[in-house]
Amino acid sequence: MTYSRIAGTGSYLPEKVVTNSDLEKVMDTSDEWIQERTGIKRRHIAADDQATSDLALAAANEALDMAGLAAEDIDLIIIATTTPDKVFPGTACIVQRRLGIRGCGAFDIQAACSGFVYGLDLADRHIRTGGGKNVLVIGAETLSRLTNWEDRTTAVLFGDGAGAVVLQETDEPGIISTHIHADGQYEDLLQVPQGVSQGYDITRAGEAFIQMNGNAVFRRAVATLDSIARETLDKNNIDKHDLDWFVPHQANMRIITAAAKKLDMPMERVIVTVDEHANTSAASIPLAFDVAVRDGRIKRGELLLFEAFGAGFTWGSTLLRF
Ligand code: ACO
Repeated sequence: MTYSRIAGTGSYLPEKVVTNSDLEKVMDTSDEWIQERTGIKRRHIAADDQATSDLALAAANEALDMAGLAAEDIDLIIIATTTPDKVFPGTACIVQRRLGIRGCGAFDIQAACSGFVYGLDLADRHIRTGGGKNVLVIGAETLSRLTNWEDRTTAVLFGDGAGAVVLQETDEPGIISTHIHADGQYEDLLQVPQGVSQGYDITRAGEAFIQMNGNAVFRRAVATLDSIARETLDKNNIDKHDLDWFVPHQANMRIITAAAKKLDMPMERVIVTVDEHANTSAASIPLAFDVAVRDGRIKRGELLLFEAFGAGFTWGSTLLRF
């Protein structure tokens, strides 16, 4: 049987750090409020001349290094992003060019904060059906470009960054199962209302910002993460206590704690980076994962659960042995 496994991980965070105290100076908020309601202490913000592809490329190079591969070994590049460099070409094509390779498939997917687990789902199926041996899956975002710095209810929540993995063909799993879902009826609760084919006005492009009903998103996120965890464990006849690590989407510490509690997972076994990175949407899981691999917490052979929830709503999970 053909399976896929994660052969390498990488990540990149822009140099500029904006703390809660920095935000206190430009909006009516406080470090205390932000930490208490979200767990966030700081976030990284891309420089004016940094695009999503710059962040993605740096993360991809690290993942290739860890996998011991050259860019030429890559058969497919998938980038999950809600903040592509351009409407087209896809950011994945830009990254492919900058990796100095040609010919392999390269495309972007847009599933908001769940984009990375959607990408893993596609990449795993691609490898298992003989489509290629090595797939780069990247989550990369410059959410600061969609942030309304005059709206304190959203501005404090988001950050920029990128995470990447190389998924590689293998003869034992690796990826055990992937699960993706969406329910489009919640469009209005979390959105950037301007797009290309609807409501697009080039003179108002600078007003295309994130809008969110925080309370409603919070409630749905907690309920949905519980159901996707049960679906994933039931499908594989795995007891929640067998999990070594829980790597959730990093949106809000209270959502993470609630999801961990339902899994009966002690917080020492939950990877948390929301305090340092804030919510980096599609980048948040691969970023958190890479941090914990590189600091030695997550080790080869351990059983991991990734879980994501985002605009759409979209949600999904990955159960894997690292
Ligand atoms: N600083 C200070 N006060 C604030 C701020 C702020 N940054 N933002 C809101 N407030 C005020 C509100 O105006 C309100 O004041 P009022 O009572 O006088 O009206 C008060 O704080 C409470 O506001 P709530 O919205 O009820 O606060 P809540 O406890 O729900 O926290 C939050 C808000 C953090 C946004 C929370 O709802 C949340 O985390 N929701 C989920 C959001 C999320 O995770 N989104 C992303 C998931 S999907 C994805 O990743 C794209």
